[in-house]
Amino acid sequence: MRRAASDPFRHNIESYESLYRGEPAFPGAPAPDGIPWDIRQAQPRLMELEALGAISGEVLDAGCGPGDNAIYLASKGYAVTGLDSSSTAIERARARALRAGAPVRFEVADATKLSCYEGRFNTVVDSALYHCLDHGGRRAYAAALHRATTPGARWFLYCFSGANVNGVIAPMEAVPESDIRTTLANAGWRVDFLGPTTFIGNTSGFTGSFGKLPEGILRRMPPGQAEQMRRMAERMATILPLIDDGRIHLPCHVVHATRADRRGRHPG
Ligand SMILES: C[S@@+](CC[C@H](N)C(=O)[O-])C[C@H]1O[C@@H](n2cnc3c(N)ncnc32)[C@H](O)[C@@H]1O
Repeated sequence: MRRAASDPFRHNIESYESLYRGEPAFPGAPAPDGIPWDIRQAQPRLMELEALGAISGEVLDAGCGPGDNAIYLASKGYAVTGLDSSSTAIERARARALRAGAPVRFEVADATKLSCYEGRFNTVVDSALYHCLDHGGRRAYAAALHRATTPGARWFLYCFSGANVNGVIAPMEAVPESDIRTTLANAGWRVDFLGPTTFIGNTSGFTGSFGKLPEGILRRMPPGQAEQMRRMAERMATILPLIDDGRIHLPCHVVHATRADRRGRHPG
């Protein structure tokens, strides 16, 4: 997934790796002050999902980042594999798992391919990966997950929505509901539930490259994307000084899907 010439500022595998290394995501952007999604614990909504009994069997955490969701699930007794395209994120995740004494298998892999995991997982957890992919990437990812899972597997997906939660809007491209429904159905996934929720972000991640892109870069971005970044930066500059726990609630969709066969029929 390379950057399209028309959209050199879209986040992709290389820009995420740069952020984890503490380097600017794009040439000319400031270095990040923090990783916006790294809250050093599992996402509370995911912990609730587990407590409600939604997770079963062998679990894939796709786009696991620094690994806290996978580590949490492993600590609850699940067999968990965490995959991320960033080797720096995977190194960090392995170190955290070692410290936590949690037996997670962390591997570097592109979630749009997943060629070595045929028919393997019963549950997929996607905590903010889907919105990182472009349209073709999302289609390839949904198809790759279909290949990597067992019949009847569940996929729990959290991705940015266009909602406004207490004045906060998504820090990057929000995914329309129709994109999720069409992409998942075409790849053989049945959407059982799609609703609003929030993803907890780390405020220090919004004072660097996510929050303060220079005007020179914003002017070279596609107009819709630049407008989103300007609006988000404005909101963050107003809100962040009022937050004292370092956490911000970002608007998301939560999706529960079941693996059907390729014609969209559920096996059960
Ligand atoms: C917004 S972060 C979320 C990380 C983690 N799931 C969490 O909740 O903290 C998205 C992650 O997806 C990873 N990623 C982006 N594109 C990917 C791809 N094609 N395959 C695997 N991981 C990818 C990034 O490196 C990053 O770690």
